[in-house]
Amino acid sequence: METQQPLVQMRGVYKHFGGVRAVEDMSIDIRQGEVLGLLGHNGAGKSTLIKILSGAYPIDSGEILIGGEKATIETPRDAKAYGIETIYQTLALADNLATPANIFFGREILTRFGALDEAAMEHATIGVMKRLNPNFKNFHDAVSKLSGGQRQAVAIARTLQFNARIIIMDEPTAALGPHETQMVADLIRNLKNEGIAIVMISHDLHDVFDLADRITVMKNGRHVWTGPVADTDKDEVLQMIILGKLPDGSYAPGIVSEDAA
Ligand SMILES: Nc1ncnc2c1ncn2[C@@H]1O[C@H](COP(=O)(O)OP(=O)(O)O)[C@@H](O)[C@H]1O
Ligand SMILES: [Mg+2]
Repeated sequence: METQQPLVQMRGVYKHFGGVRAVEDMSIDIRQGEVLGLLGHNGAGKSTLIKILSGAYPIDSGEILIGGEKATIETPRDAKAYGIETIYQTLALADNLATPANIFFGREILTRFGALDEAAMEHATIGVMKRLNPNFKNFHDAVSKLSGGQRQAVAIARTLQFNARIIIMDEPTAALGPHETQMVADLIRNLKNEGIAIVMISHDLHDVFDLADRITVMKNGRHVWTGPVADTDKDEVLQMIILGKLPDGSYAPGIVSEDAA
């Protein structure tokens, strides 16, 4: 695993909004079939970093490599062409439409006469949902009737249908109860088993320790630490999140000690 070429490398990434330095000299690797947990306080720069990867924000400087080659990602369409899909907390579902219409929203299958091919879309939907959640049966109700976990499954299915290789999930369990959170955890495990890489942004240490293979901690827009979950524990990670302090008591480059302030 250690020598495997990362699927994605972001290197030396900077992004500011006016005077706000949202992301500074930030680097991450994303490997095939891993769950990478991206952790940090509110305002640490997590969403900004992944919005650069998903083409929502242009990069100020730094580079993105995909499969070792320099990539240009300027729009969400560019990111999708590389198989990078992002699911935001809002999920962006069309509430009044059923699951197949949501999965194919904007990318509908048409018959050779130019009409919507409902049968083909339903068939494909059943196939993709089966990969994620074999118990999912509700293909005809509007998605507003579905549970939070099922709605997540629909949002994920939409990315899979269009060949996602990397799925970025921004706070996937933030609005969910324990049972629903468990459902989303199962979805994530199924994706991982298919070799899909998942970047999971979360402030919930428990979820991250449960699901992630590796974690990256950010603070004040900067990189604090990256490593296997097995190499650390929740107390250490909490200290990294809050103080930017590494387990050996030192600070990552650019992180100012709170003690000194
Ligand atoms: N579109 C934006 N315009 C101005 N400032 C922004 C914008 N997006 C994020 N920021 C600022 O950038 C910093 C990082 O935010 P964000 O990436 O959302 O952090 P996180 O996702 O870790 O909570 C914050 O100070 C935030 O206020
Ligand atoms: Mg955020």
